[in-house]
Amino acid sequence: MAFAMHNHALALFSTLVLVMISFEIACGSHHHHHHHLKSLHFSLYQHETINKTGYIIVNGIKGGAGVTQTTTPFGTFFVFQDILTATANRSSKVVGSSEGTSITSSFDGLQSISIAKLTLRLKHHKGSVQVVGGTNNIKPSDYPVVGGTGDFLFVQGYVTSSPVDLKGITVTYKVEFHLYWPPYASQAF
Ligand SMILES: *[C@@H]1O[C@H](CO)[C@@H](O)[C@H](O)[C@H]1NC(C)=O
Ligand SMILES: *[C@@H]1O[C@H](CO)[C@@H](O)[C@H](O)[C@H]1NC(C)=O
Repeated sequence: MAFAMHNHALALFSTLVLVMISFEIACGSHHHHHHHLKSLHFSLYQHETINKTGYIIVNGIKGGAGVTQTTTPFGTFFVFQDILTATANRSSKVVGSSEGTSITSSFDGLQSISIAKLTLRLKHHKGSVQVVGGTNNIKPSDYPVVGGTGDFLFVQGYVTSSPVDLKGITVTYKVEFHLYWPPYASQAF
């Protein structure tokens, strides 16, 4: 009886080993063809209201470009904490925030160097993504992702920010995320 049980357990064990080996083979081939990279692509909308969610903290040089919807004088130090929503409608679901600074870095007042922490509360991913790069106030700008926290730990890729509506006191940008997790990211959990 005990022997039979032992045999049964052994048979079960070898079946398990076989299943595990075939699983490894399946995963191995998948890894080979698709590099097993986890990635995520989605878009959110950033809304910024002058003197409410974004402020000029330090004025730029005198005699530089004027303060308009798209320009600020060279050297202007701007800080923002904007909401990120699911659709272009400002009343749509808030799924995160964008906190950062921009320093006007071109004499025509159209470009700046920006740093931002994008906090995301998505259905299956929570954490933050850090980006840095050059902003063109009237064209789409690509920002390399320099890292992340929480579910975005070790994340790489880029974020594209494009103006959607620059009229009025609240401006809206479409923010496209292209995120890739390196293979070692999964080992951290
Ligand atoms: C924002 O505040 C500054 C300083 O008080 C003011 O000069 C500027 O006109 C305001 N801008 C807008 C768009 O209300
Ligand atoms: C934005 O959403 C609000 C609330 O759902 C709605 O009342 C409004 O009509 C929407 N605006 C546009 C432009 O779709």
